[in-house]
Amino acid sequence: MNNIFPVITIDGPSGVGKGTLSRRLAKILGWNLLDSGVIYRVLALVALENKININHEEKIAALVDTIQIAFINGKNRFVILFNGKEVKKNIFTENIGNCASKIATFSQVRENLLIYQRTFCKRPGLVADGRDMGTVVFPNAELKIFLYASFKERRSRRLHQLHKKSFSVNFRSLLSQIKERDERDYNRKLAPLIPAIGSLMLDSTHLSAEEVKAKVLMYIRESLVLSATVLYNTTHNQG
Ligand code: DC
Repeated sequence: MNNIFPVITIDGPSGVGKGTLSRRLAKILGWNLLDSGVIYRVLALVALENKININHEEKIAALVDTIQIAFINGKNRFVILFNGKEVKKNIFTENIGNCASKIATFSQVRENLLIYQRTFCKRPGLVADGRDMGTVVFPNAELKIFLYASFKERRSRRLHQLHKKSFSVNFRSLLSQIKERDERDYNRKLAPLIPAIGSLMLDSTHLSAEEVKAKVLMYIRESLVLSATVLYNTTHNQG
């Protein structure tokens, strides 16, 4: 199945700069944004707030039909709406991230989310960020990027992000939560975190967010030039 509108997927573990890159690209291109991690996080938060057991697959899967998420391209940033209201910043804690990672192992949850995530692919295009965007949700994406970085660098970026959001962080527990989440996301049976075939592999360990963005933009320009050349040759070599 081809996407009606072009899609760029950005996959990778937490702390590699996926969120920043996807938002910057979506702004520059004027495309829509899907931060799929937010959907898993919202599901986790709704379950916790409603005292739904996080291990109850059917109940969590049923929640999918009750949530509507929107990423609105605001003046300076993307505003995230959950059922019409701006999401509370507490969805970004490491604890919610870890619960999100747990419910993300459930096949019913992933199945129910698949079609919903594809509805974000609208005119003029979509930048989709997550773990399985290039492998499962948008396997025919025009460009697939897999971002990675050293554990040490990811840990310090995550710490910085949490401090910026004024969350108090226990360093040791943060470390073990990141490790636990990595372990689960990389090794789960369904849609594990792996680079999609044909991904552009980008190590962001020693790059600033600006440098990562510049590299990807250069790649987008080059691949567009490339596909334009291929198109030209194809049409001009016929008959
Ligand atoms: O990107 P994030 O840290 O906000 O994601 C939170 C968790 O959600 C992540 O640890 C695993 C899960 N997730 C997933 O399984 N598939 C996605 N496409 C996005 C997130």
